[in-house]
Amino acid sequence: MSLLELAFEHSSEPVVSLLDILYYPDAQLRRNAAVVENVDGTVASLVDQMLETMYAAPGIGLAATQVNVHQRVMVIDVSEENDTPQTFINPEILTAEGEEEMQEGCLSIPGVYETVKRPALIRVAAIDREGNPFEMDADGLLAVCIQHEIDHLNGKLFVDYLSPLKRNRIRKRMEKWIRDGANPDDLPERP
Ligand code: NI
Repeated sequence: MSLLELAFEHSSEPVVSLLDILYYPDAQLRRNAAVVENVDGTVASLVDQMLETMYAAPGIGLAATQVNVHQRVMVIDVSEENDTPQTFINPEILTAEGEEEMQEGCLSIPGVYETVKRPALIRVAAIDREGNPFEMDADGLLAVCIQHEIDHLNGKLFVDYLSPLKRNRIRKRMEKWIRDGANPDDLPERP
């Protein structure tokens, strides 16, 4: 399928179905995602479904791992208006500098927000939805989000940066919340 056909298909498709998001401590979240060999129409449509799912949640980032697709694909939109989607396929951090603490949350661990320390300034290389390689510098929220989503592709979650005690409390709360039916109106809170 050509890029033109893809673009047409994209614009003429009114509704993309939402994907189910896996919740911590689902073992599938611990898988290491595979490198995408070909950025074809299947990958582009995965990207579109992931963006729809992320906006609907709502969230600012989503990794394919979280929707049980174990390929190195992630989407991010940190803009105020939710109008600047960014796609990263096979992302790689080239350089990382400084240190910054920011409160993080995750669509796979809803209701839980904890402070995590990460490099403040990164340079990342990736491939976009159309298959074009690019490099970019990121700081602030975008840098945090890129690192958080790359962690997902490596089977890592932001709670892994917390103490084992805190992580276990969060896991127990999540397990109870899932047992009780995973009600989005009654989210688990920080322990
Ligand atoms: Ni996350």
